[in-house]
Amino acid sequence: MIAVFHMEDRFYAIDDFCPHQGASLAGGWVHEGCVACPWHAWRFNLEDGAWLDNPKIKVETYPVTIQGDDILVELP
Ligand code: FES
Repeated sequence: MIAVFHMEDRFYAIDDFCPHQGASLAGGWVHEGCVACPWHAWRFNLEDGAWLDNPKIKVETYPVTIQGDDILVELP
């Protein structure tokens, strides 16, 4: 599962799985380049997936491109 966010003029794609207890990050709140997990508010940088309290812990991020009306997420 991948969560896609639209912030200002960019799209971001990250794993939709919080490494704390597995909540869906897609239901989180986006603010200032980060998403806050809806369960316990761990915050992750949308650019590199780093947890703000300990950047050694990250969620995977994926490149996003726009083609017309389609949002394309590049998977490994
Ligand atoms: S499950 Fe995400 S912060 Fe706890």
